[in-house]
Amino acid sequence: MDLTLLPPEIAEAHQRFACSVAASADLDSLMRLKGEFTGREASHASRMMDVLKTAPKEQKRELGAVINALKNEWEEALKNRQIELEAAKKSAASLATSWDPDLPPPLPVHGAIHPLNRLMDRLVDVFRPLGYHVEEGPETETEANNFDGLNIPEDHPARGSADTFYFSAHAGKLLRTHTSPVQVRVLQRIAPDIEKLGGIRFLAPGRVYRKDEIDPTHSPMFHQVEGMLVGHGIGMHHLKGTLSYAMKALFGPAADVRFRPSYFPFVEPGCEVDVRCPLCGGSGCRVCKGSGWVEILGAGLVHPNVLKFAGIDPTVWSGFAFGMGVERTAMMVSQTPDLRLFFENDQRFLKAMGGLD
Ligand code: PHE
Repeated sequence: MDLTLLPPEIAEAHQRFACSVAASADLDSLMRLKGEFTGREASHASRMMDVLKTAPKEQKRELGAVINALKNEWEEALKNRQIELEAAKKSAASLATSWDPDLPPPLPVHGAIHPLNRLMDRLVDVFRPLGYHVEEGPETETEANNFDGLNIPEDHPARGSADTFYFSAHAGKLLRTHTSPVQVRVLQRIAPDIEKLGGIRFLAPGRVYRKDEIDPTHSPMFHQVEGMLVGHGIGMHHLKGTLSYAMKALFGPAADVRFRPSYFPFVEPGCEVDVRCPLCGGSGCRVCKGSGWVEILGAGLVHPNVLKFAGIDPTVWSGFAFGMGVERTAMMVSQTPDLRLFFENDQRFLKAMGGLD
């Protein structure tokens, strides 16, 4: 339709028309709009008729067709919206008269612990009988706690602003990229008393942040559970025994665990811990990407530099530490293919996860 034949203010009004119809929330405002566009007098339609009357003869046919098409479009849309609004008004009115104060109210939906919190709670329950308590650290951390105290060198790629959220107005402050800075905080706090305490063991669940684009397996915010034990003569056998036990407690007594050598600056030796895929039993499926194993944890023996930084003598004390990815584990256990579902709070998903009644 060639709107250039019309006066510009009418062409402009037409551009706004569909929006204005949709935005009319009640019959009164719709009637005002109807008057403005198709009213008998002083409307866009009546003005178009005046334009047609004074148009040069050779334009009349084409202009007439445009005007007719516009008028039909307006009338049709106004009529449809009127039907919609009348129906809405009617159902609101019948709801008001059909309300029976003697009937019991609809049952409230009971809230529930979020599936991610439930998994973290379960892990805490698994470790509590082993003597672990819960520690917390702030999500806003210092570079010293997030990196330096963990033996992460100045030039480590994770320290770059491409991976880490730094606060531009606060030098040396960042959103923690893992829960490991809680190790630094706790060790520094207990260092003066460690002799008296005989060591320490704790879990630290919490939120962490990394500059990742959101996709089915990445989110700039996710959860980890850190674990640490410091004592005398602690070795890989303690780490393996503890984590094997914990994985069986979490995934069932048949759960199979394997330890693969890996590198983290704050442990030596370091490893990654895989659990035999609880979905396919190890034969290979989509969840374990055909390998039969899923990676659950990073772990290792606490690096002497971490103890030293906190003021603890590494020739006297030793320990192990681990960090578990909560979303990854929850996705695997529940066969959830898209991590975003955990953050959208769609009640149908939470219900399916057994969280709502
Ligand atoms: N902090 C490591 C990570 O975020 C996990 C980890 C924790 C590894 C403790 C070893 C020891 O990937």
